[in-house]
Amino acid sequence: MSAKLQVSSHPLVKHKLSLLRDSATDHRKFRELSRELALLLCYEATQDLALTPTTVATPMGEAAGWEASELIGLVPILRAGLGLVDGIQELLPNVQVWHIGLYRDEETLRPVEYYNKLPAAPTVQVCLVLDPMLATGGSAIATVDILKRWGAQRIKFVGILAAPEGVEALANAHPDVSIHVAELDERLNEIGFIVPGLGDAGDRMFGT
Ligand code: PRP
Repeated sequence: MSAKLQVSSHPLVKHKLSLLRDSATDHRKFRELSRELALLLCYEATQDLALTPTTVATPMGEAAGWEASELIGLVPILRAGLGLVDGIQELLPNVQVWHIGLYRDEETLRPVEYYNKLPAAPTVQVCLVLDPMLATGGSAIATVDILKRWGAQRIKFVGILAAPEGVEALANAHPDVSIHVAELDERLNEIGFIVPGLGDAGDRMFGT
């Protein structure tokens, strides 16, 4: 499996993922858990952010400090990626959010682009591609393709569940992109759903 794959071993991630998978979890709770998981996974995905030394005035005097000064862009893949934005914004209030609209053609399972309003040149130094599900990997690969054409230099994928097929496809297409997920599941089924998975993330998030 890809050296760039990071599956969380954090107990809170495991606990919350189990609740998220549960078919008895309603839409409201599903969104809440997705938000919390996104925050925890973003914490893990940003371990290598660059720091600039600084000084800070405390009530007692001057202390050495650090500033995480890289500009970060969140790139949620519509629709389900939207459910990961809020939690990360709590952790990183100054992020830019650039939406990419893709849906998976139900017959071919290939991604179809329907929304992209990226400006002409990159405005961030690190992009976090957000999508709860890395299934065939087609949507993530297409999004990274778009970001690289845009000129993005450092790109990470942050999701909740991945199938081995999706990890392999993304790692082959874009070996430089690290993949941060809560769990690596067993496989894809014949209609491209992750098994055992959690069902259709977009539908569970938005009540459709
Ligand atoms: C689902 C999911 C991912 C994509 C993953 O989206 O949210 O975006 O499929 O599949 P892939 O790795 O095989 O590309 P869907 O097309 O159902 O759209 P939605 O998020 O709008 O429901």
